[in-house]
Amino acid sequence: MESLPRITLLFFAFTTFLASASARRHIVGSNLRLPSEAVSRFFHEPAADEENEGTRWAVLLAGSNGYWNYRHQADICHAYQLLRSGGVKEENIIVFMYDDIAYSEENPRPGVIINKPDGGDVYKGVPKDYTGNDVNVNNFFAALLGNKSALTGGSGKVVDSGPNDHIFVFYSDHGGPGILGMPVGPYLYANDLNDVLKKKHASGGYKSLVFYLEACESGSIFEGLLPEDINIYATTASNAVESSWGTYCPGEYPSPPQEYTTCLGDLYSISWMEDSDIHNLRTETVHQQYKLVKDRTLNGNDYYGSHVMQYGDVGISKNLLFQYLGTNPANDNYTFVDENSLRTPSKAVNQRDADLIHFWEKVILCSQQLFFKK
Ligand SMILES: *[C@@H]1O[C@H](CO)[C@@H](O)[C@H](O)[C@H]1NC(C)=O
Ligand SMILES: *[C@@H]1O[C@H](CO)[C@@H](O)[C@H](O)[C@H]1NC(C)=O
Repeated sequence: MESLPRITLLFFAFTTFLASASARRHIVGSNLRLPSEAVSRFFHEPAADEENEGTRWAVLLAGSNGYWNYRHQADICHAYQLLRSGGVKEENIIVFMYDDIAYSEENPRPGVIINKPDGGDVYKGVPKDYTGNDVNVNNFFAALLGNKSALTGGSGKVVDSGPNDHIFVFYSDHGGPGILGMPVGPYLYANDLNDVLKKKHASGGYKSLVFYLEACESGSIFEGLLPEDINIYATTASNAVESSWGTYCPGEYPSPPQEYTTCLGDLYSISWMEDSDIHNLRTETVHQQYKLVKDRTLNGNDYYGSHVMQYGDVGISKNLLFQYLGTNPANDNYTFVDENSLRTPSKAVNQRDADLIHFWEKVILCSQQLFFKK
C-alpha cells in the first residue's frame, strides 16, 4: 500500500525536478518535499473552502470512576486540551467524566491531572458537562443524537450537528465482550451503540464520524456490527478478544513521578494524542495515525501490547486529522513524518492489572471491589 505511491511520487518529484531544474534553477528546492508531505498532498489536495465547511464536534467520555482508574479521566482531559489547542470550540466539545480524580484525597497534586510523567496539567478548563451520576448510557446517547429532551441532568450540551459536520468520539474505559463500562448504571451494549450511530446517520447528523475507542476487548464493540456505508470510521485499542493496556504505571519506564501510585494513561490513547500533540495535523491523515498508533500499541509484539483495529468505512481514513481535531498553530512547521518515532514504554500494564498495581503500590490486599470494577 505504501511503497507503490512512494515510487510514483519519487518519479513525479524527479521529473518535476528535471523540468524545473533546466528552467528556473533557484526554485527547484520548493518542488522537493518530504515524502510524507508529498503523499498527503498527492492524495488529498484540499479544496480552498474545505476548512470553512462544516463544524467540528467532539464527544469525550471516561467511563470509569475511582482513583485507581485515574488514567481514563486523564486521557479524556488530555483529549479536551488537544482539541482546544486545535481550535475546536468549547461549545462543540461535550465531556463526560465522573470528576472524582482531581480533588481525590489520594491525588498527590490536588486540582491537577497529568497524562504523562513529565506532562503538565490537563484538567484546567475542562468543562463539567456530565459528571458524577450524569455519566451514563442514556445521557451519552442523548448527547450524541442531539436529543436534549432525552437528557437527565448535565449541562444540556449536545451534538447539535448537521449534514456538513464532522464528529469525533473518544471513549476510554474498561470493557468486555460486547460491552463498555459506565461509572454508574447499566453497561453500554455494542448493539445499542451501533443502533444509535445508525440513527445519527439516518437523521443527517454528520458528513463523517471518527470514533476512537480504548477498552479491553474493544474490537467486539464494532466487529460485524458497524456498517461500512454510514460514513463512520472507528479504531479500537484492541481486537475483540484481548486486553488493552494502561501505561506510565509505577514500576515501568518511563514511570510516573514517585508520589503517584496509579497509571497515568492508556497505551492506545496516549499514542494517538502524543502524536497529535506535536504535528501539523493538516499534513497527517487518519490512516497515517492509525498505522503509527497500531505500531506503538503493539509494543513490539510483546505480551504487553494489543492489536489496534479499524472498522466501518475505512475510506474515511484518507481524510486529514485536521478535519476532526483541528491543528495547533504552534505545530505549523512540524510536518508528520511517516515513521514511528515516538518511544514505546518498556512495559505497559494490562488494563485489568492496572488496578492491581495501584493497590499493590499501596500495599493493600485485593479487595472484592477490584474484581467487580471491571
Ligand atoms: C428524544 O427523546 C425523547 C425521550 O426519550 C423521545 O421521546 C423522542 O422521540 C426523541 N426524539 C428523537 C428525535 O429521537
Ligand atoms: C515556521 O517557519 C517559518 C520560517 O522559518 C517562520 O517564519 C514561522 O514563524 C514558523 N512558524 C511557527 C508557528 O513556528
